[in-house]
Amino acid sequence: MAVLTGAGISAESGVPTFRGDGGLWKDYKAEDLATPEAFVKDPRLVWEWYNWRRELISKALPNAAHKALVQLEIRKREYTLITQNVDGLHDRAGSGRMLKLHGDIWRMRCTVCGANWPDRRAPLPKIPPHCACGGLARPGVVWFGEPLPDGMMKEAEHAAGAAEVFLVIGTAAVVYPAASLVPYAKQGGAKVIEINTDDTPFTNQVDCALRGPAGELLPRLV
Ligand code: OAD
Repeated sequence: MAVLTGAGISAESGVPTFRGDGGLWKDYKAEDLATPEAFVKDPRLVWEWYNWRRELISKALPNAAHKALVQLEIRKREYTLITQNVDGLHDRAGSGRMLKLHGDIWRMRCTVCGANWPDRRAPLPKIPPHCACGGLARPGVVWFGEPLPDGMMKEAEHAAGAAEVFLVIGTAAVVYPAASLVPYAKQGGAKVIEINTDDTPFTNQVDCALRGPAGELLPRLV
C-alpha cells in the first residue's frame, strides 16, 4: 500500500492549504515567495513568510487523519507514505516510512556550503538566518522550478507502482511530478482511493472517490 498526501490532510489541524477558499495562493503569489528567483531577489521577504508559517504550524497538532495513517503503517508490511507537505505533522503523529517530496519546513540549508540541519525555533530569532559558515540559510523545502530531493521521485514511483492500494488524500493533484503518481499507481494495477472535500483532475479516473474531510473519513476507512 502507498499513500499520497497533500495540504488538505492538515487543513483540520488549522494549517492553511494552498488552493481553494482560504488557500495561501489567494493572498500570496507563489512566484514572489516559493521560487529560487524570489529568494535571490528578497531573502528577507521569503523568510518572513516562512517564519509566519513556521509559527502557525508550530501551534498546530496532528489530527485524526494523520493518526489514522500511523495505524495503517503499523498494520501494513508494505507501506509507503509519500507527502507533499512540509509541515512535519506526519512526523509528529508518529509516521516513519515517509518520503517528503517537497522537503521539510523545519530544516535549513546553507546556500554557500550546502550544510543541512534541523531548526524548530518559531519564531526564528533573526531573519534571514545564517549558517555557521556565515552563508545565508534557506528553508529546506523544494520551490517551484527546483528538482525534488535526489532519487526520491524514483522511490515514490516504485512504491506507487508496486502498491495494491493507493490512497490519495487532500491534494488538488495539480503540482507535478507528485500528481503523476496517481496515474502511475493506476497503471501499475493499484486500486486508487481518493479522499478529498472536492473533485480533482483525477476524480473520474479513480476507483473510489470519497467526498469529505480526511479527519472524518480516513479513521473510518482505516
Ligand atoms: P492544495 O492546497 O493545492 O490542495 C488541497 C486539497 O485538499 C484540495 O484539493 C482541497 O479540496 C483538499 N482539502 C481541503 N481540506 C480538506 C480536508 N479537510 N480533507 C480532505 N481534503 C481537503 O495542496 P496540495 O495539493 O498539497 O508545493 O499542493 C501541492 C503543492 O502545491 C504543495 O506541496 C506546495 C503547493 O504550492 C510547493 O510549495 C512546491
